[in-house]
Amino acid sequence: MGKVHITTFGCQMNEYDSARILDILTGLGYRAAAGREEADLLIFNTCSVRAKAQNKLYSFLGQLRDYKKTHPQVRIAVTGCLAQQEGRRMLKALPQVDLVLGPDALPDLPRLLPLVLEGRRMAEVKLEGQADLPLSGRRASLVSQVTVMRGCDNFCSYCVVPYVRGREKSRPAGAIADEVEALTAGGAREVHLLGQNVNSYRDEEGVDFPRLLTLLARIPDLLRIRFTTSHPKDLSPALMETLASEPKVMKGLHLPVQAGSDRILAAMKRGYTRTRYLDLVRRLRETVPEISLSGDIIVGFPGEKEEDFRQTMSLLDEVGYDFLFSFQYSDRPLTPAGVLPGKVSEEEKRRRLLVLQARQREISLTRHQALLGRVAEVLVEGPAKKGHGWLRGREAGGRTVNFAGPPGLRGRLIKVKLESATVNSLRAVRLTPLETIAAKDLG
Ligand code: 5AD
Ligand code: SF4
Repeated sequence: MGKVHITTFGCQMNEYDSARILDILTGLGYRAAAGREEADLLIFNTCSVRAKAQNKLYSFLGQLRDYKKTHPQVRIAVTGCLAQQEGRRMLKALPQVDLVLGPDALPDLPRLLPLVLEGRRMAEVKLEGQADLPLSGRRASLVSQVTVMRGCDNFCSYCVVPYVRGREKSRPAGAIADEVEALTAGGAREVHLLGQNVNSYRDEEGVDFPRLLTLLARIPDLLRIRFTTSHPKDLSPALMETLASEPKVMKGLHLPVQAGSDRILAAMKRGYTRTRYLDLVRRLRETVPEISLSGDIIVGFPGEKEEDFRQTMSLLDEVGYDFLFSFQYSDRPLTPAGVLPGKVSEEEKRRRLLVLQARQREISLTRHQALLGRVAEVLVEGPAKKGHGWLRGREAGGRTVNFAGPPGLRGRLIKVKLESATVNSLRAVRLTPLETIAAKDLG
């Protein structure tokens, strides 16, 4: 059988789907290619949330048009949100593409692939599938991702996700637990539960998200559980309590606000006001004082005036995010915001983004500095980028920590003391004595 290369764009949900695709193909006898030129099946798992990822995909596909003329045996498949958005149109517009497969149609891959290898060109973009096809555990990594729900029902006015990922569908808690157990048996120690809006998770038996967390926390070899994304309008007191009381649940929350002005929040159809958001953050910090908070911001939404932007800036100061993802607004097909008047120019969006990011760097640094001198528990993920003798891991809030130690500590929870800080990471010294760890494990 052949070799496959997968290029993944976009969010963690796509990373998870890429792992599933590789799992399906390995089952069919494929091996992973080291590079694109080695592969006879090229898969692009795409994102359509912002125009940038879309442009990048088209530039890749453009280059492949000539490549396919000299390599006629190569097959090209496009999966993910852009596949869903474009469907058959993509086959028409791009003769180099052989297969277009929407996210819910992934289980059809084994059926369609032989036809594509025979030379047929196909598109499959149905949206109703439960698509509950767990990873087998073969592909477990120390920190593994697990989708708990797919789709989104919120229809924020700028967002294409509800159109390309369909309605919210929660996977059965039992299936999720089985998958997490299999991943743990395969070496996973931390799982990231993924969903566009995990707070509205509810399976057919009535298991809600806090209950799911409690269930998963019982899996013995699993050390940590993290989850994303939480929609502010659905963040429940029960979830805050679980964050506070369940030791395996990491003390980090991604709580996208998107804008600091009520006028823009309403135009975005986010379902909360600035005051309500700030109130949630206050209650969260009361319940879980050590919580690490991250958010998403969009600058330059249609109609965003200088005063609205100032409100976003002041919200950053009031919240004090540990980490922030920020984006320039980008028109997406199908979305109501795409046709709103008052478009902000590209230069102005860029200027606002740079101002915002500069301020956030200061805030992130201050937040990190406030932690110095404290003891933290780090799950060691591997060697640090900075080189020999340094390890990299994350503390309970998800912040990156580097410290000196032997490579055999990978996969262990190690106590450290935080000593210095940069915008993106913390440096620490190890407190857990090596004598407590068996010599054979230290490698
Ligand atoms: N333009 C810019 N950013 C967007 N996002 C979603 N849609 C758009 C858009 N049209 C951002 C939001 C969301 C994150 C995943 O991507 O901040 O939370
Ligand atoms: Fe998009 Fe809003 Fe759903 Fe998030 S909650 S995926 S921003 S529609």
